[in-house]
Amino acid sequence: MFDRTIKIAPSILAADFANFGAECRAVEAMGADWVHVDVMDGHFVPNLTFGPAMCAALRPHIKGVMDVHLMISPVDAYLEAYAKAGADNITVHVEAGPHIHRSLQAIQSMGKTPGVAINPGTPVEAVAELLDMVGLVCVMTVNPGFGGQGFIASQVDKIARLRQMIGDRPVHIEIDGGISAKTAPLVTKAGANVLVAGNAVFSGGSADQPAAYGENIRSIRAAAEAAIG
Ligand code: DX5
Ligand code: ZN
Repeated sequence: MFDRTIKIAPSILAADFANFGAECRAVEAMGADWVHVDVMDGHFVPNLTFGPAMCAALRPHIKGVMDVHLMISPVDAYLEAYAKAGADNITVHVEAGPHIHRSLQAIQSMGKTPGVAINPGTPVEAVAELLDMVGLVCVMTVNPGFGGQGFIASQVDKIARLRQMIGDRPVHIEIDGGISAKTAPLVTKAGANVLVAGNAVFSGGSADQPAAYGENIRSIRAAAEAAIG
């Protein structure tokens, strides 16, 4: 049975860059379901984060799902390195190149869960031919590159249309950008079940004092679940 329950996936882009291992352990201990790892190349998005070696270093500190979001282009040359680094989900942007189907086939062949992400300006129809190849579709509710941006509310209708398109396929709808206890209900009501949250989780606490992380995760989850009854 496909598990479509609400999952909270804190993004370590908002964590302490000098303390990633402890931050991953802390946020999982405080209730995170997945750990979202934002890979940026300074070309596909105007920011630069970390490569496969960093993901490999994080792997022993993440008990659950390492949800790797590749905001890089071209992407195919790096897929194997992230698979070897221990990623569970490998999500590629449909805008990253001309051969998204081939990229997803490659991720499947490596035994990882393929994901496809779409930017706010990309119509949901762009993933219509991919829904039988992926374990998740990531709808960006900010323009990718930075945490702490404002939620783009126009994407809510797109989420509802995507939910229709997916039907009863075992495919998660992941929302990424500007998720908080305030915006979470909007997207779960529309049919999303995986909520990426950076600043809304990694605020008010630290790896040594992670209680606030737990409170933040609980409040996002409660708001999300309340919206779907
Ligand atoms: C943006 C990243 C998001 C971002 C989320 O390009 O893909 O995962 O880190 O951060 P918040 O939740 O602070 O918007
Ligand atoms: Zn992300």
